Amino acid sequence: MTDLMVPHEAEVVERISESATIFTLRLRFRDGSRHARYRFVPGQFNMLYLYGVGEVPISVVSDPQDDALFDHTIRAIGRVTRGLSRLQPGDRLGIRGPFGCGWPLEQAQGHDVMIVTGGLGCAPAVSVINYVMRRRQLFGELVIVQGVKHAEDLIWAQRYHRWSRMEHTQVMVAADVGTALWPWHVGPVTELFAQARINASDTVAMMCGPEGMMRVAADHMRALGIVEGSMWLSMERSMHCGVGRCGHCQIGGKFVCKDGPVFNYTQVKDLLPVRGL
Ligand SMILES: Cc1cc2nc3c(=O)[nH]c(=O)nc-3n(C[C@H](O)[C@H](O)[C@H](O)COP(=O)(O)OP(=O)(O)OC[C@H]3O[C@@H](n4cnc5c(N)ncnc54)[C@H](O)[C@@H]3O)c2cc1C
Ligand code: FES
Repeated sequence: MTDLMVPHEAEVVERISESATIFTLRLRFRDGSRHARYRFVPGQFNMLYLYGVGEVPISVVSDPQDDALFDHTIRAIGRVTRGLSRLQPGDRLGIRGPFGCGWPLEQAQGHDVMIVTGGLGCAPAVSVINYVMRRRQLFGELVIVQGVKHAEDLIWAQRYHRWSRMEHTQVMVAADVGTALWPWHVGPVTELFAQARINASDTVAMMCGPEGMMRVAADHMRALGIVEGSMWLSMERSMHCGVGRCGHCQIGGKFVCKDGPVFNYTQVKDLLPVRGL
């Protein structure tokens, strides 16, 4: 068995409740030398092993330079994630990783950045937003676009308000179904794209969310003038090994665990519309 297949024990240092079903675990490897060696880039993921229950892929959301702890923000939806939600400081779990390719953050430097997310709390996008915010001078305009089905699905509303007050940052949020006090747009999120204050031909776009949403968003971004080679997206598939051996995460000829989860749009655009992939 290679080292990549062996979980290493980590300890929960802090548990933060983000909403009724979403929580953040702040972790540290119990072996100090492993912790010191651990490096990741935003967009990569770990396999989190809850002893006696199972293992799930979860993105790393902390900043790569915060080397005291590493964080995972998790939505409790099933067997393993619900079990993880019950962990408390001092509890232990197994970690394999980091796996996969991250966001093209070096290529994005010096360019405008448009981040489009859909659905309930998009952890891979939070890591990239935090990364850009902490290195604001390295990037051009930042546009954050978040779409949800129902206004009540939006988590971290205060973060969107805070980000919207930052210089050279535009935040646009849309809900298909609004509520009386909903301060943002009601309707498809793509209706907001034309308002993006970016130089489209000099923009790097990063998306995560349901694949149907990303396909439509890519069409709208192309219409704005963003070139396909500058569009990136994070894909999700059921995963077992995390290292390209079991085939569980395959999409066409690609393995989401090792060729992704972040792909250039040109690599996957022909696969996105194929049902069953
Ligand atoms: C690369 C990658 C990164 C991820 N990062 C995160 C993250 O940062 N935070 C996070 O909360 N989740 C993340 N996920 C999703 C997470 O891995 C799944 O939610 C988890 O595997 C579900 O396991 P479970 O045992 O709790 O649920 P299960 O019991 O396996 O499933 C419960 C229900 O949820 C559905 N389901 C399972 N997986 C998904 C999924 N990926 N999307 C939508 N529905 C699903 C199942 O079909 C089933 O109906 C990521 C997935 C991938 C592939
Ligand atoms: S999870 Fe096994 S090949 Fe990707």
